[in-house]
Amino acid sequence: MAKQKFAKESVTIMTEMVFPNDTNALNNLMGGRLMHWMDIVAAIAAQKHSNRIVVTASADSISFKEPINLGNVVTLRSQVTRAFNSSMEVFIEVTAEDIPARKKLTTHRAYFTFVAVDQNGGPIEVPELIPETPEEIEHFDGALRRRQLRLVLAKRMKPEDAVELKSIFNIGEK
Ligand SMILES: CC(C)(COP(=O)(O)OP(=O)(O)OC[C@H]1O[C@@H](n2cnc3c(N)ncnc32)[C@H](O)[C@@H]1OP(=O)(O)O)[C@@H](O)C(=O)NCCC(=O)NCCS
Repeated sequence: MAKQKFAKESVTIMTEMVFPNDTNALNNLMGGRLMHWMDIVAAIAAQKHSNRIVVTASADSISFKEPINLGNVVTLRSQVTRAFNSSMEVFIEVTAEDIPARKKLTTHRAYFTFVAVDQNGGPIEVPELIPETPEEIEHFDGALRRRQLRLVLAKRMKPEDAVELKSIFNIGEK
C-alpha cells in the first residue's frame, strides 16, 4: 500500500441531469436524491485514496438554500481533504447549471467521512494525504477541528479532549 497520496489523486467529478423522477411536487430536485449522489461521489473519492472498500461513517450538516430545478445539470465534485487512521474526510461541492439560460450556481458544500474496511467490515489503515494547493491546505488544516466536533457530537470523544476544537473558541484559557 502507498504510504502517502496526493489530494489531487482523489478528485472525482460526477454529472447528472434532473429528471421528473428526481423531483418533488414543486419540480425541484429532492434532497434525498441529492444526498444519494453526494454519497456516491464522495465514496468514489475515498476509494481512490484508500484503494479499499469504504463505508459512510457520517455526513456533516447539509442545508438546502437553493433549489435545483427540473432539467438542471448537476455537477458534483469530491476530493479527500485529510486521512486519519482508517477514516477520511471528503469535501463535496455541488453546482447546478441551467445550460440554455447560461446560469450556473454553487448550491451545496458538505463534508462526509468514510472509513476504509477489510473484507470483514473492520476498519483498516489508509495512506496519509498530502495537500498541495492553498485550497487543499485550508481544507486539510480545518479537518482536525471538524473531526473533533463530529466525534464529540457522536459521543466518541470527550469534549475536554477536543484540543484543536476548543482552541478556536479560546475555551479553557484564562
Ligand atoms: C464506521 C464503522 C466502520 C466504524 O467502526 P468502529 O468499530 O466504530 O471502529 P472504530 O471505533 O475503530 O472507528 C474507526 C474510524 O471510524 C471513525 N468514526 C466512527 N464513527 C464516526 C462518526 N460518527 N463520524 C466520523 N468518524 C467516525 C473513527 O473516528 C475512526 O477513525 P480513525 O480510524 O481514522 O481514527 C462502523 O461503525 C460501521 O461499519 N458503520 C456502518 C457503516 C455503514 O454501513 N454506512 C452506510 C450507512 S447506511
